[in-house]
Amino acid sequence: MEKILIIDFGGQYNQLIARRVRECNVYCEVKPYTTPLTELQAMKPIGVIFTGGPQSVYLEGSPQVDPAIFTWGVPILGICYGCQLIAHNLGGQVTPAQDDSAREYGKTITYYDTGCKLFSGLPKQGISWMSHGDYMAKVPERFALAARSDACPNVAIADEERGFYGVQFHPEVDHTEYGADILRNFLYKICRAKGDWTMDGYKDLAIADLRRRIGGGKVLLALSGGVDSSVAAALLAEAVGSQLTCVFVDHGLMRYNEGNEVEDAFAKWDLNFVRVNAESRFLLKLAGADEPERKRKIIGEEFVRVFEEEAKKVGTVDFLAQGTIYPDVIESGAGDAAVIKSHHNVGGLPDCVDFREIVEPLRMLFKDEVRQLGRELGLPEYLVSRQPFPGPGLAIRIIGDITKEKADCLRQADFIFREEMARAGEDKNLSQYFAVLTNTRSVGVMGDGRTYDYTLALRAVTTSDFMTADWARIPYELLDKVSTRIVNEVKGINRIVYDITSKPPATIEWE
Ligand code: XMP
Repeated sequence: MEKILIIDFGGQYNQLIARRVRECNVYCEVKPYTTPLTELQAMKPIGVIFTGGPQSVYLEGSPQVDPAIFTWGVPILGICYGCQLIAHNLGGQVTPAQDDSAREYGKTITYYDTGCKLFSGLPKQGISWMSHGDYMAKVPERFALAARSDACPNVAIADEERGFYGVQFHPEVDHTEYGADILRNFLYKICRAKGDWTMDGYKDLAIADLRRRIGGGKVLLALSGGVDSSVAAALLAEAVGSQLTCVFVDHGLMRYNEGNEVEDAFAKWDLNFVRVNAESRFLLKLAGADEPERKRKIIGEEFVRVFEEEAKKVGTVDFLAQGTIYPDVIESGAGDAAVIKSHHNVGGLPDCVDFREIVEPLRMLFKDEVRQLGRELGLPEYLVSRQPFPGPGLAIRIIGDITKEKADCLRQADFIFREEMARAGEDKNLSQYFAVLTNTRSVGVMGDGRTYDYTLALRAVTTSDFMTADWARIPYELLDKVSTRIVNEVKGINRIVYDITSKPPATIEWE
């Protein structure tokens, strides 16, 4: 498969570059800038992209490349810091921008030289997204200027003969009007890509690879019902069928009918599907626990225990399968950020079973590719396109202590909310939406009687990465309909509120 290598200098949009390249049907991998050149060369890429980064190329200790990369003979596109790195190495000069006008941030009108292959077919000008404090004071030798802005004459440089290009702006972000076209030009016109990366093709390759690797061995998978573990299960089922055992621990805190939906989706494969209905066991452990972290810990621990018991019944396991995806791989070891919530991921259970190896069949895929692969494998759309659902489930959407009555009440309300959102077509625009059962009770009046029932909060957000999020402006009429239905249909709820906080300062979930 043809391949692009993305050399990571620590910029904030690095994953986005990789996704954009894959969207152009070209396979790519992100490699840290410290990767030895020989290792990069052994991967035989058709082109290389240098990402942006927070540093200044001229400072001591800033991330650098092996200068021999410039005599290797592969096309290179440098973005922002990557562009400055090319200039710095090939005889140009990068300096701090002297005045504010050369320091560019945000949307900027950019004028392209459409005679340059990188910009060919584009209009003469367009909006691009800039974010740089350094400035290319001197263009490197053999390079021509290929784009400019009103403030800066050196927005893009090109050495068409050697196939080296640099842009100060970020073609990977949506704010850059013709960003996707620019990347496509680099891939197809400069690196001469054929575009052989499709999920259909990947499915066959991945199945063949799994069969070769697993042979006659036994595989165990913890299935949560989330997109990643479901697609991993479907892929493994297709590859090794009855050698696979999926253990689906239903902790009783799933959404309405979710357990049955997951089970039904796997009925067509000849695999060992174990559903453990552990609702009472989990509720017993959770009884009286009202502190969010404590609830998460109890569920995480109990999950491992149930899984362990089931795994023992399977006997010797050769492979433990996990639904790890590419962003997890890129982000792993990315510093020690403060723990806001101890996320419980049911895929990650390496300590509890005796096994020989781990298989992670989705390790090189982005979420949208995982969804696409799920479709290729014939998983139902409701499973493949479902919004994220936290491992601890409704436990962290019931504020305070948890009882079966509260879980049932929330399940019903959440179902109504999701049903109405889907009916109104709002589900397509939103990243996540759900109901939260608060532990606040208030007085209401229904019929002629007084009520003293729970307040339910509705939450709906838009986000591209779940690290930050904005609350969704859903229509009042829709909120009204949902509110009326829930209060009328769900016993125990007499008041509905809508959460209008972004993340930060709030988080998406309430606990
Ligand atoms: P927060 O609430 O931290 O959530 O803004 C960000 C995203 O992560 C999901 N989430 C979890 N996912 N295990 C998971 O697998 C967890 O324990 C967990 N907690 C939160 C949340 O639904 C949102 O999509």
